[in-house]
Amino acid sequence: MSARSSFPIVELTIPSTMQAPGAPAFEAMVEVRNRVETGILGSGVLSYSAAELLPGFQNPYKPRRLFVAHDGGNVVARAILSWVTAAGSSTSSVTVEVDGAYRRRGIGSTMLDQLEDIVRGAGRPIIQSSVLHTAHTSGPSVAASSGFGSVPATDPGVRFLISRGYRLEQIKRVSFLEVGQDSRELTEHRKNAERIAGPDYELKLWSGATPPEYLTDLARLKTAMSLDDPPAGLKRTVDAWDEARIIKRDQDQTSSGRELLTAAVLHLPSGSLVGFTEISLPADVGGAAAQEDTLVISEHRGFSLGMLLKTTNLQRLGPETKIVYTFNAEENRPMLRVNEALGFRAVGYEGGWEKSIVS
Ligand SMILES: CC(C)(COP(=O)(O)OP(=O)(O)OC[C@H]1O[C@@H](n2cnc3c(N)ncnc32)[C@H](O)[C@@H]1OP(=O)(O)O)[C@@H](O)C(=O)NCCC(=O)NCCS
Repeated sequence: MSARSSFPIVELTIPSTMQAPGAPAFEAMVEVRNRVETGILGSGVLSYSAAELLPGFQNPYKPRRLFVAHDGGNVVARAILSWVTAAGSSTSSVTVEVDGAYRRRGIGSTMLDQLEDIVRGAGRPIIQSSVLHTAHTSGPSVAASSGFGSVPATDPGVRFLISRGYRLEQIKRVSFLEVGQDSRELTEHRKNAERIAGPDYELKLWSGATPPEYLTDLARLKTAMSLDDPPAGLKRTVDAWDEARIIKRDQDQTSSGRELLTAAVLHLPSGSLVGFTEISLPADVGGAAAQEDTLVISEHRGFSLGMLLKTTNLQRLGPETKIVYTFNAEENRPMLRVNEALGFRAVGYEGGWEKSIVS
């Protein structure tokens, strides 16, 4: 508990399951997340249930420490510190979210102080934060160092992070696609992409667990994703995947109630997967689907494989899915070109912030 905030701050033990004793506190933490992010975006589309988020908090490849602030019996703020365990990683990630009614009372500062103190002693001095920001108003804005995009200077998160010495390096666009409106357009885009890709490429589709014959290739592609996603001025962290990590990730998705739809493209002459895309379906039927990673490795770009993968996977969605959302770097023109052609439209922005702590 800190001297600056009069609201007690405690570290939560991450429960092993949603039936374990710590589960109600974990659930209250997730409710703060959903309230704060719904408030920023003006839509609850990005909300997750506690069960869906729990595996992410138990991920041994990306450990997290979790803190909450209380007002009496209520959880009113949350703070998360996470890091990648890969050797040589020098970055830590932080998130601080405070319920609207409890802001400007020092809770956010106290929680961030606490996370920064832990980072200071942990040998990962570069702190990053991915933060949803309110949509643009006509007022002053803060531009990202990447040169692509800006956020309102009056947004509480922007004011808070600038006052703490963080730099806005990158903007990610949050986009929604309303699906099922015009399936002919999707079919046309897919046919066109098939024609450009030609006979050297074959699609492989699966849902849930990755077929054993593709584990090695998918691990290679997921590792490449951590290297290829444009980082702008953010320090890049190589996040290495192997077969065991893919298997664990697949098991976690299933146990959380979500379902992962994967489309991959096999390059027939080499017999290797050279691209993939993933859509994560919510446990709650009818909720929004998340368009997750998409990658085509550099030697195979320019053959419309990104469009082929995305259109094919989107065509697998049932009528219960009405909205798909995705996050893309504002400078990632090749991916945005595909998404814009498919009808994704911007609904919000996420800032990629960074600060280096010198002990
Ligand atoms: C950003 C956030 C965590 C701040 O939490 P908080 O408990 O209000 O923070 P504090 O009371 O410690 O305020 C710290 C400073 O941030 C700045 N700040 C925060 N909100 C502000 C606002 N609406 N207008 C102007 N400055 C603001 C001020 O410098 C403030 O200090 P001051 O109150 O002495 O002027 C909270 O607004 C929030 O949850 N926003 C959504 C999530 C987010 O943007 N998180 C960013 C960090 S990962």
